[in-house]
Amino acid sequence: MTNFLDSSTSPAHSLGTKDDAALDADSRKVDPRNKLNDLSSTEWVAETVSVWAQKGLGARHPDTRIERQHPAPFSFTDVGRLIRFFTKAGAVVLDPFVGIGSTLKACALHGRRGIGFELNEEYVTLTHERLLSEVGFAAIEHSQIIQCGDARILTQELPTDSIDFVVTSPPYWNILHKEDHKARQERIQRKLDTRYSDDPRDLGNIGDYASFLSDLAGVLGECGRALKPRKYMAVIVSDFRDGPRYITFHSHLAEALQDHSLELRGLTILHQRQKRIFPYGYPYAYVPNIHHQYVLILQNAKAK
Ligand SMILES: C[S@@+](CC[C@H](N)C(=O)[O-])C[C@H]1O[C@@H](n2cnc3c(N)ncnc32)[C@H](O)[C@@H]1O
Repeated sequence: MTNFLDSSTSPAHSLGTKDDAALDADSRKVDPRNKLNDLSSTEWVAETVSVWAQKGLGARHPDTRIERQHPAPFSFTDVGRLIRFFTKAGAVVLDPFVGIGSTLKACALHGRRGIGFELNEEYVTLTHERLLSEVGFAAIEHSQIIQCGDARILTQELPTDSIDFVVTSPPYWNILHKEDHKARQERIQRKLDTRYSDDPRDLGNIGDYASFLSDLAGVLGECGRALKPRKYMAVIVSDFRDGPRYITFHSHLAEALQDHSLELRGLTILHQRQKRIFPYGYPYAYVPNIHHQYVLILQNAKAK
């Protein structure tokens, strides 16, 4: 990786005040002015590259047994990267759609205190099981909390300015109802969930896209209210197809969140390298295999 401190235009370098070894040592220290995270300059800069390759455990890893029971988990490794960038050790991290607890696992592994909300009781039970079997003592030590219920209500109960970082992946409207390809058929055969629930409170069951967006923005807006001033929120989403229409969900959501004082600071593209390729549309029309997600990086812009 290129170290920005190695640049020959760096003032320290051009003044000849530090040799290469000293500069290298500096790049591995945490800057005392750094109030955001515990990363050195080298680690910090690497994470600002706007394309990441998704990093999972691999289907055969024993720790995917519980994760696999959820139709749309994200990788705790990728969430861990976000948590390490946007918080310091001991910080409070919230995920209002925590699913099978990937955020809480990442929090436990990195010494952060996670709070998760989840509607489906079965996933709450599986999260407890997952934390105990995959993390063990660290999960208890760093007190991970999961609450079962509707995020639209639970987020309203959060104290204002109490959260250091919000990271989540919400339902992508009702796409789990629509997808009808081989991967879904395989889950049905293996008796695994193909959608989150039949609960009408599940945002993934809302039929009208505008109502879905408004409810989702409402939940994230409440999370923004609970977020400390100038702190960050990372929302992992994907665009999707609705019949032949391509829906730019990431941009619709970013726009809706502006009304809640959550300002877009950047987009990281998460390349889903392991996803299978299907011959959608062939040989009649162009239909994309969507193999990337967006991490919307938003900042709480409300005045103190
Ligand atoms: C994309 S999944 C999150 C997966 C999670 N990132 C993980 O790795 O396990 C979205 C989750 O939101 C939950 N959900 C949907 N509507 C909800 C609501 N109103 N309140 C709380 N959770 C809800 C679903 O049950 C589902 O588990």
